Amino acid sequence: MSKTLLFSSLVTSFSSFIHSESHPSLSPVSVKCTLSSSSLRTPQLFITRRTNEGLVPRLVSTSFSTRALSANFSASDPSQLKSANKDILELLKSTSCHPIFVRLGWHDSGTYDKNVEEWPLRGGANGSLRFEIELKHAANAGLVNALKLIQPIKDKYPNVTFADLFQLASATALEDAGAPKIPMRYGRIDVTGPEQCPDEGKLPDAGPPSPAEHLRHVFYRMGLNDKEIVALSGAHTLGRSRPERSGWGKPETKYTRDGPGAPGGQSWTVQWLKFDNSYFKDIKEKKDEDLLVLPTDAALFEDPSFKVYAEKYAEDQDAFFEDYSLAHAHLSDIGAKFDPPEGFCLSG
Ligand code: HEM
Repeated sequence: MSKTLLFSSLVTSFSSFIHSESHPSLSPVSVKCTLSSSSLRTPQLFITRRTNEGLVPRLVSTSFSTRALSANFSASDPSQLKSANKDILELLKSTSCHPIFVRLGWHDSGTYDKNVEEWPLRGGANGSLRFEIELKHAANAGLVNALKLIQPIKDKYPNVTFADLFQLASATALEDAGAPKIPMRYGRIDVTGPEQCPDEGKLPDAGPPSPAEHLRHVFYRMGLNDKEIVALSGAHTLGRSRPERSGWGKPETKYTRDGPGAPGGQSWTVQWLKFDNSYFKDIKEKKDEDLLVLPTDAALFEDPSFKVYAEKYAEDQDAFFEDYSLAHAHLSDIGAKFDPPEGFCLSG
């Protein structure tokens, strides 16, 4: 196994540790898992925190399992996953398909129901979105195009699961568009047949009667909280809505007329291939008729609890980046079953 492929196992509790409300003071700026140079058998997890003395890395644990180093992966092969990542970067460069890859990853994981224990009945990031029956759900309109783009990469790397590939494509697209590093882990197992796809209706509607209530109903079911709802909505800084797909947005605007990618649709932001906090600034101002504000976007500045975060993110891009990165890693995990059970991370 290549020594340049540095990965270590993350214990399952890592994710819940990071997201735990019982550690509100942690507020990590970055999370890095690596193997110490002196002993390749000692994985170390660092969390960098902002303190009065600046950014301080703190070694959180050296007790992670090293099983991932020697295990036979029945989910994804790390070296194939790493090569797939390079191909995804090439594809992003040639097609500017960043937004639809982000939507692909989110729609695979966003079916998760925390009240159901059994996998894959509980839904989530399990690759079920590759099946026609799920792609045909109204909420997934247009995502067949994302699958067509990613399928050749899947064919080239058969030992990478769809579930991992969808989440990898999403995280890589975000980072390539300017998002902060997302502390991802891999090793998701795929469902095997269309009969394991979730029922329709798990993803949020853009125009429900009570948008804030609806967002809570859907995202709480996934085990996500208000802060995560607002942060993740910031993914709409990328991409466009197309009336012929979702029914929302204008057929084209001055920002989308010439692409890049397939022209048309209505974006939330002016530079819709750049990840920054302009989504929050723009939906707050609602000044530009050519920029989209869905009822669920508007709710972020109307609901008192959501508003606290939305205002903060409009003012402070660093705060948005920090919360987004952790919320996205959480979103990419939900419902997934990992092999090895603690997952593994890629670096380098
Ligand atoms: C909060 C509830 C959400 C609602 C109601 C919602 C709704 C929508 C709608 C209607 C579209 C347009 C689809 C089309 O016409 O092609 C869209 C696009 C998109 N959504 Fe969301 N979304 C939500 C949350 C999220 C989350 C959590 C993420 C990612 C973390 C996300 C990422 C995206 C991206 C990147 C696009 C652009 C896709 C493209 O340009 O092809 N959305 N969303």
